[in-house]
Amino acid sequence: MSTVVITGTQWGDEGKGKIVDYLAQQAETVVRFQGGSNAGHTVAVHGEEYKLRLLPSGILYKGTHNIIANGVVVDPEVMLQEMDAMEKRGIDVSGIRLSDRAHVVMPYHRLMDGIGDEARGKEKIGTTKRGIGPCYMDRDDRIGIRVCDLMDKEEFARKLKANLARKNQELQAIYHHEPLEYEDVLEEYLGYAERIRPYVCDTITLLNEEIASGRRILFEGAQATMLDIDYGTYPYVTASHPVSGGVAVGTGVAPKKIDKVVGVVKAYCTRVGEGPFPTEQLGAVGDKIREAGHEYGTVTGRPRRTGWLDACVVRYAGLLSGIDYMAITRLDILDDFDEIKMCTGYRYKGELLPGMPASLKVLAEVEPVYETFPGWKTDTSCIRDYDALPEQAKKYLERLAETTHIAIGIVSVGPNRDQTIILAKDMFA
Ligand code: GDP
Ligand code: IMO
Ligand code: MG
Repeated sequence: MSTVVITGTQWGDEGKGKIVDYLAQQAETVVRFQGGSNAGHTVAVHGEEYKLRLLPSGILYKGTHNIIANGVVVDPEVMLQEMDAMEKRGIDVSGIRLSDRAHVVMPYHRLMDGIGDEARGKEKIGTTKRGIGPCYMDRDDRIGIRVCDLMDKEEFARKLKANLARKNQELQAIYHHEPLEYEDVLEEYLGYAERIRPYVCDTITLLNEEIASGRRILFEGAQATMLDIDYGTYPYVTASHPVSGGVAVGTGVAPKKIDKVVGVVKAYCTRVGEGPFPTEQLGAVGDKIREAGHEYGTVTGRPRRTGWLDACVVRYAGLLSGIDYMAITRLDILDDFDEIKMCTGYRYKGELLPGMPASLKVLAEVEPVYETFPGWKTDTSCIRDYDALPEQAKKYLERLAETTHIAIGIVSVGPNRDQTIILAKDMFA
């Protein structure tokens, strides 16, 4: 077995970066397959923190290949800034490869994302304003600019001119914003083009060759199941497919070549931005979780909404992504609670629902069925062995495994690499 997918099971920020970094010890290649710089993945190594938005979290290991595949929308400015920042910290970035088919985030995408979302008023999604949705919209409208276009000066100039004529009209008429200057954008992006050129390649061929030669590959999901464009709480979602199926279309690796899927589950729930959140705790409990977990956004700094663990969401993620193992993170954040709740079912009009409702009206009205667990009131952050965890903590975890029908593979009790309890010894076996 050589390919493992890491996918978020909730509303993002589960600790995917930490788990990817941990498993990257055994991997030779790490691949981002969807999303873009809306992601904020934090990796802590020897007390130092690295915040990654676009670069794969395998970057901290020398010699690892780090691929930004075709399903990602790439803001070249962010990519270069991140590469520069990494190099300044002594990190080797020569193993980065960027797909020639990836779509390029343009300045008008960022502008339209920001102004457009605000213009929705009460209906706003609360996007990260990184231009992700508008860039995917242009892809689907078949006017997008791809990395291969950016590599070709004439082609890029032609596409930019055509797009800008249209976008400037929209910017002025709909967004009441001044037009963007063609020459300025052209010059800026041609500058990026020269800097990223050495990293651009056909990542489809590269990845499939790597898989054929038995290299161990890790696919790093960004965002999460409940933010998936089709399966999440639409329209309060992102514009890509964070579920494991996104790997196949986002990389050109066929589904049958995916060996294992790991779902990252935060031990409680958070959400940034708008949209339904059945187990949200608006009072003292929510505040306590936010403060204990320092739950403020990596990308935007926004306070995250907080609540109890929702096993219905995890069960749904398991189904959609075929999750083999859960990697449960941030168990330590619950160390000081007298009691802890887990939602194991949704009741609607007196009946238990069999699945995740499509209608947001229904989801907003479901009554979570909670099971209550006594807190363990013990510091778990220094525990490295599953058996050494407090009995109450094990009961909580085991109930989650039972109600979701997914095995526990990893339990994380702190941000650092060593604060990791491993149950599934070799994910690549
Ligand atoms: P991601 O977007 O899924 O990669 O998650 P983020 O990086 O946005 O947020 C997760 C945060 O939790 C980061 O600051 C991590 O360093 C941190 N983290 C990850 N696992 C653990 C853990 O088990 N315990 C604690 N206390 N922090 C963790
Ligand atoms: P990581 O990879 C949490 C949320 C935004 C917003 C919605 C749409 O760090 O887990 P977008 O800018 O993508 O169009 O915003 O999705 N969102 C995230 N929330 N973690 C993320 O990424 C997110 N990426 C997007 O807050 O509600
Ligand atoms: Mg994040």
